Amino acid sequence: MEKTNLERRVFHPPEEILRHANIKGEMYKEAQADRLGWWKKQAHELVTFFKPFEKVLDDSNPPFYRWFTGGTTNVSYNCVDRHYHSDKRNKAAICYENEMGKKVVMTYRELYVEVNKFANVLKSLGVGKGDRVCLYMPMIPEAAVAMLACTRIGAIHSVVFGGFSSHSLAERINDAQAKILITADGNFRKGTPFPLKENADAAMEAAPGIEKCIVVKNAENPINMHEGRDFWYHELMASAAKYYQPEEMEADAPLFILYTSGSTGKPKGVQHSTAGYLVQVQATLKYVFDLKETDVFWCTADIGWITGHSYVVYGPLALGMTTLMYDGTLDYPDKDRVWEMAERWGVTIFYTAPTAIRTFMKWGPEYPKRHDLSQLRLLGTVGEPINPEAWMWYYENIGGGRCPIMDTWWQTETGGFMVTPTPILPIKPGTATKPFPGIEVDVVDDDKQPAERGYLVVKSPWPSMLMTIWGDDQRYLDEYWSRFGDYYFTGDGAKKDSMGYIWVTGRVDDVLKVSGHRLGTAEIESSLVECEEVAEAAVIGKKDDIKGEVPVAFVTLKDGYKGSSELVAKLKKHVDVKVGPIARPSSIIFTSTLPKTRSGKIMRRLLRDITEGRTIGDATTLADPSAMEEIVAAYSGKAG
Ligand code: WT7
Repeated sequence: MEKTNLERRVFHPPEEILRHANIKGEMYKEAQADRLGWWKKQAHELVTFFKPFEKVLDDSNPPFYRWFTGGTTNVSYNCVDRHYHSDKRNKAAICYENEMGKKVVMTYRELYVEVNKFANVLKSLGVGKGDRVCLYMPMIPEAAVAMLACTRIGAIHSVVFGGFSSHSLAERINDAQAKILITADGNFRKGTPFPLKENADAAMEAAPGIEKCIVVKNAENPINMHEGRDFWYHELMASAAKYYQPEEMEADAPLFILYTSGSTGKPKGVQHSTAGYLVQVQATLKYVFDLKETDVFWCTADIGWITGHSYVVYGPLALGMTTLMYDGTLDYPDKDRVWEMAERWGVTIFYTAPTAIRTFMKWGPEYPKRHDLSQLRLLGTVGEPINPEAWMWYYENIGGGRCPIMDTWWQTETGGFMVTPTPILPIKPGTATKPFPGIEVDVVDDDKQPAERGYLVVKSPWPSMLMTIWGDDQRYLDEYWSRFGDYYFTGDGAKKDSMGYIWVTGRVDDVLKVSGHRLGTAEIESSLVECEEVAEAAVIGKKDDIKGEVPVAFVTLKDGYKGSSELVAKLKKHVDVKVGPIARPSSIIFTSTLPKTRSGKIMRRLLRDITEGRTIGDATTLADPSAMEEIVAAYSGKAG
């Protein structure tokens, strides 16, 4: 961690990029001088409003900020219709490929037809403005079509990552009170169909609010169709009317809900807005990834995460660009799959996560070397801090030493990039550099004073900010606005270097980043304590060379139970089923006690000292100071 300040390598933007960059140096100054004026200009340039907005920012009821109020628009109109009515009509909108080699190129015209038809399908199934529609889908074009069709009719989608368990899916359906579920029969993972519909069936058992389920035939694996409830996508589409007039939506109408992990066991439904979101995802993509008419943009994120929403679907399509979707693993049939695809599709901009970069690094440079990657001009990374070694490897072996790397810091809650380089800034391995124009971010100490090292905060509202937590305004206030008042608290720690660049050091709350996926320690703990043998559980993140962090669980058992490898396997399986395999603890340590304060709070910091092999920190506030010895012994006896 201390290494970051020693990082002195600076890479200056190549002449060629500087000359043609969408962003100009003046924009930083312009935005600084007049932040709202800058966003107003972006809104005018990037969004087609049906009715013009009256106010850029309504801050009369903080922190429930509302952007571009008075205006009306429709997101699917912006992503599809306006390109359909332009020279882009026959341009590739979505390029898709799955693991088995199936390929689809969908033009804006074709996308327009599909979105309109599916909007009519949803309407005919009784979905209206403001209704919630849950998506549990693979990375297939139909997922983008479904998202856009929801926005067309003003329904609110909630996409649940396909890797989540049926239990997690049901929990999210119930919280949002969704009445329609859209899924697929399955999708391929290393050549074998993954049973999405089976999970969806189990979830619907526990989510009685679902009235109808629409199923895309994708993997062609055998599934159960529940008469009267389940419908094939292709059958509904066959008879759907061809046009649906996009609903006129208020600028601050909820666009979607996306669940993410917080400090309690209950996932929170981050609620995003219509116009503000649409402005910022486009502005950031246009200026950070410098998208040009001929680019092929490949963001490897799944649509189940915010990155998939903002930079696979909404950002690229609103800008009328070509976005590539891949449904499959990175090493099937071989470890050069990604580079083989990048060459074949002519990918010019590639955006992925540090965990993927570290995996490529482990596999070795011979895989990218098999392919001609000379078309690449910009690279990106997101999801967790990137270690300078991985950054350098990416820069040299994928970018050929000529592609600037955009290390974009943002969150599900922020909707779009917040701290990020643009292609005209000097970059350094490991830092997300500076706030995007129009964004005010700082590092502060416990007293909210600017500091070289402390907490990352956002000092003023931004267009694509979350509106609230679905159905829980109080949680919105508590989680983000209680610690620093009118500054938004990100949950991240950060440092500033002598160039004023921001180095995000990671979460300071009980949130883990496992392969870039966000998990609450509380979510995993509450699934563990459901097991009859378990009395208490404490989960922490342990550093991992590839995944960044992996969950490690310390578990105390009820009287009469003994730890065993069978029990470890059982508990891991239970987490798989309850949360999802991404949350599975890499190790489970049985101990007779946990480090707790007198008030009963578990001191996870001390557990982290053990797993990282550090000297144990201050343990004087523990109710039972001798507990640590026993836990250390349990850990060293078990480790792994
Ligand atoms: C958390 C948000 C934003 C889309 C993917 C993750 C970490 C994200 C970076 C980065 C260092 C990063 C932070 C943040 N994070 N990007 N470039 N450098 N850390 O979204 O699941 O909401 O997670 O990811 O800890 O708070 P998310």
